[in-house]
Amino acid sequence: MATNRVKGTYDVLPNESHQWIMLEQKIRDILSLYHMREIRTPMMEYSNVFHRESEGSDMVTKETYDFVDRSNRALTLRPEGTAGVIRAYVENKLYTSQELEKVYYIGPNFRYERPQKGRYRQFYQFGVEAIGTVDPALDAEIVILAYDFITRLGLKGVKVRVNTLGNEVSRTAYQKALVSHFTPYKDELCSDCKVRIDKNPLRILDCKIDHKHQAVINAPTPLDLLDDLSKEYFDDVISYLDAAGISYEIAPKLVRGLDYYSHTVFEIEADIEGFGAQNVLGGGGRYQNLVKELGGPDLGGIGFAFGMERLLMAIEASHVNFSKDLELDCFVITMSKDLRKIATKLLYDLRSQNYVADMNYTDKSFKGQFKQALRLEAKYIVILGEDEYQRGVASIKNTKTEIQEEVKLEDIVKYLMEKLEN
Ligand code: HAM
Repeated sequence: MATNRVKGTYDVLPNESHQWIMLEQKIRDILSLYHMREIRTPMMEYSNVFHRESEGSDMVTKETYDFVDRSNRALTLRPEGTAGVIRAYVENKLYTSQELEKVYYIGPNFRYERPQKGRYRQFYQFGVEAIGTVDPALDAEIVILAYDFITRLGLKGVKVRVNTLGNEVSRTAYQKALVSHFTPYKDELCSDCKVRIDKNPLRILDCKIDHKHQAVINAPTPLDLLDDLSKEYFDDVISYLDAAGISYEIAPKLVRGLDYYSHTVFEIEADIEGFGAQNVLGGGGRYQNLVKELGGPDLGGIGFAFGMERLLMAIEASHVNFSKDLELDCFVITMSKDLRKIATKLLYDLRSQNYVADMNYTDKSFKGQFKQALRLEAKYIVILGEDEYQRGVASIKNTKTEIQEEVKLEDIVKYLMEKLEN
């Protein structure tokens, strides 16, 4: 029976994986400059890490893959990284060793969303979390990191949009203001937004159906309802961003889709031609209650996540010369089983010197093997023919200059090492 991949998933094929590897490497290099270490948490968690039924609200998103295992445990495939990281932070009491834990993660997440370009059911995120300290300078550092990252990738037409939801007091006042604002329009809003008015009115502002409705366009912004403390906090964040000299814009309507945010929120948006509707590359913000809600002390954190697929799309759309596929230094052509033994030793010796080397393992014709070597873009082709072997030599061809030389069998590795060094 032929089987297909699951809807909303995709394969990274061998000729595509180098881009992923390069991107992951860049992530690791940049994040280590910020003194961040990697954390790896499971792809599945107990469902209550993400869902809070008692509060009638989903911590993260309701579009999760939920299932019951053979022992009747309610489990969920993680829809994002933050909640699992906080669960691990609390469970392992990481707060006892230092006041600020800065971590990053790269891995798959699962959301039961309608798939389209840039939106999948299994997608990869790279994210960071800085947990334990509440200070505007830390908020700024995380925004600066996101900016630094996209700048180093060489992405053009990408902007950082920043806003604040304020503290609990301001956020609650803002929620109330939204309820009063939207209630008269209840009948005109989509079925999801009707429910959102009472449950989480902030999410109406993110609605993909109602975003053009006048009530959404004219809705109050969080900045209208900030109390003095929240305003001061945000002003400080902005002053740190200015001090660093990064480019950003204040986006008064930005509230973000997840429930756990307060204070600083931000998004990284790509304004690249042909990029499509899913143009938010990443986003994040401060969360003040998540650690406590997951059983830990009253500590806040801040973080962000980028969608890896969207980053790769942006890299492609920006024509950034990002990475090369694996380069083949040498391909060995042999015409008999006996000669393949010589080749086996030769390949082993070349790889011992850290060269990328390969050969053909069939009885394909000389012409066929030669074509294969050219298709693989081998820099050098070693031809181990019967005649040459009798004379104790092999022919080595430089595929770029087309210069071919005869080299003694015992000198092949040395010859290639000299040539490849240049
Ligand atoms: P989020 O905005 O839900 O935030 O997701 C972050 C990024 O993941 C999005 O901007 C997008 O690039 C990518 N993404 C989300 N859903 C999909 C999908 N179905 N297919 C492809 N890409 C997708 C979070 O997940 C928060 N945990 C970020 C955060 C970390 N906040 C604080 N710390």
